Amino acid sequence: MSRRRLLVGVLGLGTTATGATILWAWPTYNSCPSKHEPITAEQCSLIRHVPDGHPVNPARNPGARVFPRFLENTEPLLKELQPIKKEYGINLIEPVHAAIYRWQMSYLPRPPPVNMLRVTGRPEHAQQRRPWGYGDTLNESALPPEIKAAADRIRALPGLRLGRLRDVTINWRHSSFLRLDPHLDPATDGENIFVLSVDAPAVLTLSPHNWYRLSRWLSMLTLEDERERVRREAERSWTSYDIDVLVPPGALLHLSGDARWKWTHGTRLGVPAAPGAGEEGERGRALLHWFGRPDALFGPTPERHSVVFAFAAPEE
Ligand SMILES: *[C@@H]1O[C@H](CO)[C@@H](O)[C@H](O)[C@H]1NC(C)=O
Repeated sequence: MSRRRLLVGVLGLGTTATGATILWAWPTYNSCPSKHEPITAEQCSLIRHVPDGHPVNPARNPGARVFPRFLENTEPLLKELQPIKKEYGINLIEPVHAAIYRWQMSYLPRPPPVNMLRVTGRPEHAQQRRPWGYGDTLNESALPPEIKAAADRIRALPGLRLGRLRDVTINWRHSSFLRLDPHLDPATDGENIFVLSVDAPAVLTLSPHNWYRLSRWLSMLTLEDERERVRREAERSWTSYDIDVLVPPGALLHLSGDARWKWTHGTRLGVPAAPGAGEEGERGRALLHWFGRPDALFGPTPERHSVVFAFAAPEE
């Protein structure tokens, strides 16, 4: 083979490989079957494209619905969570990961303390006590009354078709450390994920899973500094296809279909409230968060409780 034909061959292969990779990573919006009624424009009212903050219409929504006034009064639930946190809550961030987080955040003038507390029925940790079980053996009679009432309200939402409740997880964060890296929930949780904000708002960001993985590989290949990557993701989000969902207190987010299986969800680290540094006390430490556009800031968020419910698809 001549060198010229070899070159053309290699270039052709390269182009094909690039094309195939892009095809593999391309965001999908309705590749997963859904048993629910179509998404309405109203359910998209708290959903925005990143980074321009444009509204998301149902055709470009991979399967996220927001019910803004799911709970009018969140006080009783917040109160109920306190003793449960004390009795069952554990921190699932290993010391080695906390150290990595601290190093990645060291570009911030005053990084927040790494923290998380979780109560779940999922088998996630050897030391964990699991008050209501998980999956096929989750025991709804063992749920505290306000949580049980919320699960029943979810089942009564119009337009959704749900099977059995498979998981209930309580999360608590403080000191405006809301960082949650993009992830897919465990497949065994089931088809339907519901995130209920109790006492504070949060933005959950959806990113196309494969596109996000591609951007992580590129970051590794280009030897991007981890601190620079974390800063870029906090300030500009994970991918250029990201979708932000604002979940105010008492609001409920539902993820199913592509949004459940093909898009990760996470919460950006946030940006410093006082970029000049030097500010003393909690305020100097506080991080603000943004919704849709990097300049649409809110916060700081001193603490946040959320409850995540997972439901199976209905039996055939
Ligand atoms: C479910 O929980 C209730 C209340 O805690 C308890 O009485 C019952 O024995 C549990 N059922 C099973 C099958 O574990």
